[in-house]
Amino acid sequence: MTIERLVEPTAADDKEEERIEISLRPTTFSEYIGQEHLKNNLKLAIEAVKKRNDGSTLDHILLYGPPGLGKTTMAGVIAHELGASLRVTSGPAIERAGDLASILTNLKDGDILFIDEIHRLRRAVEEVLYSAMEDYKLDIVIGKGPAARSVRLDLPHFTVIGATTRTGSLAGPLRDRFGIIHRLEYYKEPEIEQIINRTAGILKTEIRPEATELLATRSRLTPRIANRIFKRVRDFADVNGDGIIDTKVAEDALSLMEIDELGLDPADRNMLRLMYENYGERPVGLTTIAALTGDEATTIEDFYEPYLLQMGLLARTPKGRVVTEKGRKHLQDKGNVI
Ligand code: ADE
Repeated sequence: MTIERLVEPTAADDKEEERIEISLRPTTFSEYIGQEHLKNNLKLAIEAVKKRNDGSTLDHILLYGPPGLGKTTMAGVIAHELGASLRVTSGPAIERAGDLASILTNLKDGDILFIDEIHRLRRAVEEVLYSAMEDYKLDIVIGKGPAARSVRLDLPHFTVIGATTRTGSLAGPLRDRFGIIHRLEYYKEPEIEQIINRTAGILKTEIRPEATELLATRSRLTPRIANRIFKRVRDFADVNGDGIIDTKVAEDALSLMEIDELGLDPADRNMLRLMYENYGERPVGLTTIAALTGDEATTIEDFYEPYLLQMGLLARTPKGRVVTEKGRKHLQDKGNVI
């Protein structure tokens, strides 16, 4: 199934969308709403590096948690607060060890290298990264066969910020090289409200407080989704009204998008319904769910499941996933369970 999901928390792939998304990103800790615990820890680490002022660099940082919660944004904030340059790449983009070598040799002291989806790095690339992170050395092999020899190059003192949706699939030795490991949590509703109001301000759109509240309850506690829904509702208000977002406009737009009271879209409800219809209260394995919906198992695990678990609509058991009583009730309310 390759339908475009509004609530899909992956980064924007449309250029205009991407431009707006970037313009909404906070650049300082004071602009960044929520994740207070993480911010406090990072502020301390950054202050310490600045105060030492002896050329030492910030520890490597691993940020993990569901997509859309602001890992990339946080990397940008860290770089800005440190006054460092940020180089952004991702696990799948670094295909060969040579690609990583070229990125690393082009960094300067104090630079930050952000690696998104770091769990998807290839093994051979990962191994080069170990010594680079550990002692700023690059081991490369020159030549082939008996004439091959290994050389060690010095690298600048840089900081890696790795982002992953799953620490579980990160190799132990790689995880061990991060001095700071933090989970990004789902946001609280009042925080999502603040983010929506901030976005409305930047995009110069008037929104009524009750409408902000309503949108916040439908945004899966995820800023990226809140901003995306906001933009769609703003379009709706421009086309069908006077551009002001009030409760009526917000409700009508959400119903057009088929986003329900809990922020679920048709794809979420479809998955829960298929599970319940076929297995009732019995646990279902991830691959079976994937076969039912036609998605990849990793898509289910990374995108659908975290929020459904957070909301208590789905539970994980040693034997698989089960639709909870709350999940069943929700489906029933939506007219999905016979
Ligand atoms: N936009 C997206 N995420 C945000 C956050 N955490 N704080 C402020 N604005 C945001």
